[in-house]
Amino acid sequence: MSCFSCMGPRPKDVNDYDEDMVPRSSNSAVHARGKSIDSGSGNGRKDGSLKGKGTGESNNQNNNVACSFAFKELATATQNFREANLIGEGGFGSVYKGRLDSGLQIVAIKQLNLEGLQGNQEFVVEVLMLSLMHHKNLVNLIGYCTHGEQRLLVYEFMPMGSLEYHLFDLEPGRKPLSWKTRLKIAAGAAHGLEYLHKANPPVIYRDLKSSNILLDNEFNPKLSDFGLAKLGPVGDNTHVSTRVMGTYGYCAPEYAMTGKLTLKSDIYSFGVVLLELITGRKAYDISKKPGEQNLVVWSTPFLKDRRKYVHMVDPMLDGQFSSRCLHHAVAVTAMCLQEQANFRPSITDIVTALDYLLAQAQNAGTNRGGSHSAKHSALPSSEEFNANSQNRSYENMTAMF
Ligand SMILES: Nc1ncnc2c1ncn2[C@@H]1O[C@H](COP(=O)(O)OP(=O)(O)OP(=O)(O)O)[C@@H](O)[C@H]1O
Ligand SMILES: [Mg+2]
Repeated sequence: MSCFSCMGPRPKDVNDYDEDMVPRSSNSAVHARGKSIDSGSGNGRKDGSLKGKGTGESNNQNNNVACSFAFKELATATQNFREANLIGEGGFGSVYKGRLDSGLQIVAIKQLNLEGLQGNQEFVVEVLMLSLMHHKNLVNLIGYCTHGEQRLLVYEFMPMGSLEYHLFDLEPGRKPLSWKTRLKIAAGAAHGLEYLHKANPPVIYRDLKSSNILLDNEFNPKLSDFGLAKLGPVGDNTHVSTRVMGTYGYCAPEYAMTGKLTLKSDIYSFGVVLLELITGRKAYDISKKPGEQNLVVWSTPFLKDRRKYVHMVDPMLDGQFSSRCLHHAVAVTAMCLQEQANFRPSITDIVTALDYLLAQAQNAGTNRGGSHSAKHSALPSSEEFNANSQNRSYENMTAMF
């Protein structure tokens, strides 16, 4: 019991953690345990195969290869999948907090729900993707377990849980995310997505949403859940056809209607996450009245008129943001949500824009440099964006700053 005394009784309360629960990198102790799924290079990559766009942004976890765990080890780590160690539940199954290596390493263990919608194929894709892709803004897969029908995934533990947890349904007394932290999360998530989109071949993430953006102690974000990821089109192909999956409210309209998947489908979902960060509203919220349930539908009148931008902002921010920064952020969001996929910006343009906004917010401090009553910037409005979108390539989006 003493080993797990830091685990509170509330399954989803990720704030119940001790300082010593900071995730540790999955190093040699784990490698030595089991066999790697990558029998080749040993660093999860092979020449000519799937790889990131460069080493500069890699988290240098190239030696981290997913290892095979015995079921017994994971049962021990979670105290037989004890309810008190349950930290979340999703379409794949239940997620438990656990301790490996006699309590030295804290991990998150996802156990496949055998009756769930997502199954073995997603499990295999998840293991393969996360064995090949390594970046500081992608969650690190430590290992996996296949035991009879049991399928389990072992990840680095993200102590602050998901972005969803910090944005919505805050109980009294819980601090809302500041504007600067929201920008930091948006920029980090964009870097993770850029790494996927710039891989060779490109990877379409397909399931970008706030519950799949996990946070470390400093609110650095990491994308998780790659079970739905697809390799993007190669050669002359413009899209890959696929069964429509993903999560309602985040799904790009053309993908929902035709099943044609492109990198720009991810950009739309990213726009929805930006909207969530700005408004504090869920992408789809059944508890709201009709007309307000779908966030994109609800936000459309606001996005069309820059004077209304401020009225869509999360009241929990209490006006603590720069008006100029808000206008830029909403403009980027509006571009991501363009109906026509071709007019959405590339992830690289988004990264540049968000890094710039984050740097501005960091320099100014969130409480200085003007509240929402500050003067508007010279940024074009969404109407202007939309009007110009026929000719706009978005390649130089930052020119607008
Ligand atoms: N590595 C992790 N570290 C800490 N908490 C995690 C980790 N992975 C998942 N969780 C927690 O478990 C919750 C459920 O995650 P899971 O991915 O199973 O479902 P989901 O993202 O809510 O839905 P979906 O299955 O549709 O992706 C997350 O919201 C998060 O709170
Ligand atoms: Mg998830």
